[in-house]
Amino acid sequence: MVMDVMAAAARIEAAGGRVIHLEVGQPAAPAPASAIAAARAALAARPLGYTETLGIPTLRARIARHYADSYGVAIDPARIAVTTGSSAGFILAFLALFEPGDRVAVALPGYPPYRHILKALGCEPVVIETSAATRWAITPDLLLAAHRAAPLKGVLIASPANPTGTMMTGEGLRDLIDAAEGEGIRFISDEIYHGLDYAFAAETAARWSDSAVIINSFSKYFCMTGWRIGWMVVPEPLMRTIDRLQGNLAISVPTLSQIAAEAAFDGRAEMEAVKHGYEENRQILLAGLPQAGFVQFLPVDGAFYLYADVSRFCDDSFEFSQRMLAETHVAATPGIDFDPVHGRQFIRFCYAGASADMHEAVERIAAWRKR
Ligand SMILES: Cc1ncc(COP(=O)(O)O)c(C=O)c1O
Repeated sequence: MVMDVMAAAARIEAAGGRVIHLEVGQPAAPAPASAIAAARAALAARPLGYTETLGIPTLRARIARHYADSYGVAIDPARIAVTTGSSAGFILAFLALFEPGDRVAVALPGYPPYRHILKALGCEPVVIETSAATRWAITPDLLLAAHRAAPLKGVLIASPANPTGTMMTGEGLRDLIDAAEGEGIRFISDEIYHGLDYAFAAETAARWSDSAVIINSFSKYFCMTGWRIGWMVVPEPLMRTIDRLQGNLAISVPTLSQIAAEAAFDGRAEMEAVKHGYEENRQILLAGLPQAGFVQFLPVDGAFYLYADVSRFCDDSFEFSQRMLAETHVAATPGIDFDPVHGRQFIRFCYAGASADMHEAVERIAAWRKR
């Protein structure tokens, strides 16, 4: 559905209109200058061959150090696997952990590729509906109820989450890991939006479990979507399997992106400034959207998403977002992509763009609602 919105936005732009893009979930800022400089230097200096399958050793060590620096959690660099974005991390994790027919729980609303990749691999995604009552997170009770209905082999969570921007508290995460692992259910934590937390500090599953698979990426905090580079923290017994899978599927991860990613860690001050921009954008939407009649949205904890309930305006958020785009030239994503059950009630705004655009979007939408 978002593709339809983007195509309609492109038609408006082709006709000379100015669209404010709040539909695409990626940073507008470039990669850290340190990453770009390292890539330039590498291109000039040497041919780019394959690397070690699990990643350049200094990059793996640097990622491991990030866990000590950011969370105070010691991770052995030998447990880090560098991947082609977190997207490749899901494929590797699912292939290593599950067999065709295995049931794996994911949250609704949620990032659609979890369900789609599981299905493509012959696994059965088991959707667990979340609500305000559970702060839009899978709880131990919800997980165990699904497990009792038919045994689960895994559960995947994201905090901060896409499309909701909601986060699990540290205790909520710990309790869910305990409940899952107590039943032999493998735990996968998508931590791609870590670093972009506003309500409280995001907690890594690595703090509580050596058996959880952690998936992360340089795409969001480090603004490196197009570089296609991410990483996993892998339980030690699975390391050899991941190594062999990646060796066969990809040989190694793009060398230039690995070199840039290692240098990206030196660009944290620059990325913190980008994050402050998101915080400002978040405040603009939090203050402005209620004035435009959007009074119900989920807790705007992290990532760069605001998930708004539009059921007081319409009974189909796809039709609503198309009308909003046509009449205000503000693009947002209908919730149906993320939630086949209740998604027609919601739209997702992405606030990763310029703050001037946020102000203008709010003004355009407010004027539209008044008309
Ligand atoms: C929750 C979540 N996980 C994973 C991804 C995939 O990101 P990448 O493959 O760029 O690391 C995205 C992309 O939007 C996402 O929103």
